Amino acid sequence: MSANIDMEKIVSLCKRRGFVFPSSEIYGGLGSCWDYGPIGVELKRNVKDAWWRAIVQERDDVVGIDTSIMMHPQVWKASGHIDSFTDPLVECKSCHLRWKANDISDDKCPKCGAELTEPRMFNLMFKTFMGPVEEEASTVYLRPETAQGMFVNFENVVTTSRKKLPLGIAQIGKSFRNEITPGNFIFRTREFEHMELEYFVKPGTDEAWFDYWVKERFEWYIKLGMRKENLRLRQHGKDELAHYAKDCYDVEYLFPMGWSELEGIANRGDYDLTQHAKHSGRDLSYYDGESSERYVPYVIEPSAGVDRTVLALLIDAYTEEEVGGEKRVFLRFHPPLAPMKVAVLPLSRNEKLTPLAKEVYKQLCPSFMTCYDDSQSIGRRYRRQDEIGTPFCITIDFESLEDNQVTIRDRDSLAQIRVPVEELGKTLQAKLSGEPFEKTPLWAARQK
Ligand code: GAP
Repeated sequence: MSANIDMEKIVSLCKRRGFVFPSSEIYGGLGSCWDYGPIGVELKRNVKDAWWRAIVQERDDVVGIDTSIMMHPQVWKASGHIDSFTDPLVECKSCHLRWKANDISDDKCPKCGAELTEPRMFNLMFKTFMGPVEEEASTVYLRPETAQGMFVNFENVVTTSRKKLPLGIAQIGKSFRNEITPGNFIFRTREFEHMELEYFVKPGTDEAWFDYWVKERFEWYIKLGMRKENLRLRQHGKDELAHYAKDCYDVEYLFPMGWSELEGIANRGDYDLTQHAKHSGRDLSYYDGESSERYVPYVIEPSAGVDRTVLALLIDAYTEEEVGGEKRVFLRFHPPLAPMKVAVLPLSRNEKLTPLAKEVYKQLCPSFMTCYDDSQSIGRRYRRQDEIGTPFCITIDFESLEDNQVTIRDRDSLAQIRVPVEELGKTLQAKLSGEPFEKTPLWAARQK
């Protein structure tokens, strides 16, 4: 159960194995900013690829887009972010720590117990200046969501894609929020990545599409290999809904600090296109050729966080077991998400083993994310691969030089099979696609 996993264990494994480092660490770090290391960057890419595949590649009703982080300041006026994207902030009169007023149960500072200031509204958008002179006219904002890039391009996309409604526009990209209380590692940060879909539909069909997307998005996490018991759906209460939302469900995950939002799916009605039409003076209605009607489409928005998904996957995959009286830690990633698919490990750095091991590595790396490791004992190398969740390790030993066969070790069962070098690619492909590990390999069947 992920609720029993200590977040510290995840943070420490992430640092030790190259998933996530504190940002600017040599300068003491920067509050709630994190860097993805060589292993973490692969996991993050795999999450984004899985989302893009499910949302864009495998559908003919969604197209992708990549819009700029800085947008015309009027965008944020129209969207309501300048006026409403705020949190009530209180400050401790003694230690000067700042808190979100809604997180405080009594009127005292949770850190030192001193009195707090009256709440004041704090806008969460980061401001910067475009051009060399810091004057009001050139104030721009770092986007707090990617969604507005899709709304302001609705007309461009409809015209150029020549697609009819229902039509989705999808985007993955960085967003920025000056959160008052970031924390819980990469769960809430000031810079993070969004994976957002704006799905434009005919008014009146919105509720059915809303139900469809809530179900679809919940199922996506299960297809990624997350345990169903750690996921749930929660509908927002009326008092909780964002200013633009008609209805909203959160996909929640059982994080170590309790059930928390992983993704929100909102019915945004026609709020955004209506607002942008009003503020830009452009007609953003849609002519529906089938019903000969003109209307402002409604929008269903599944909005997920890449970093939060990465954290949930790390927690969900984290497994400890005892093998031969010793603790083994491994990450049971679903193979498509594993940062490294295969590790090539010669039994030792013996000069006789190196040429074959390097040849195997060269054979595999065009097809799979493969790493090569010949340092330290084989036991320590297996442990390292287990902790980064590599599904298969290939061991090259002295027998391999005789029979041109290598050993594949399965991360989850620790079972091993021997395979001729020339069958390795095919065998790994089959195993990574879900063939049971100990099923007789092709080559063995052929030998009988
Ligand atoms: N466009 C709608 C929107 O942005 P949201 O519920 O504010 O909705 C969607 O954000 C998702 O983005 C969240 O479910 C979460 O996964 C991620 N997210 C939001 N704020 C975040 C933060 N400060 N740090 C990390 N992820 C965040």
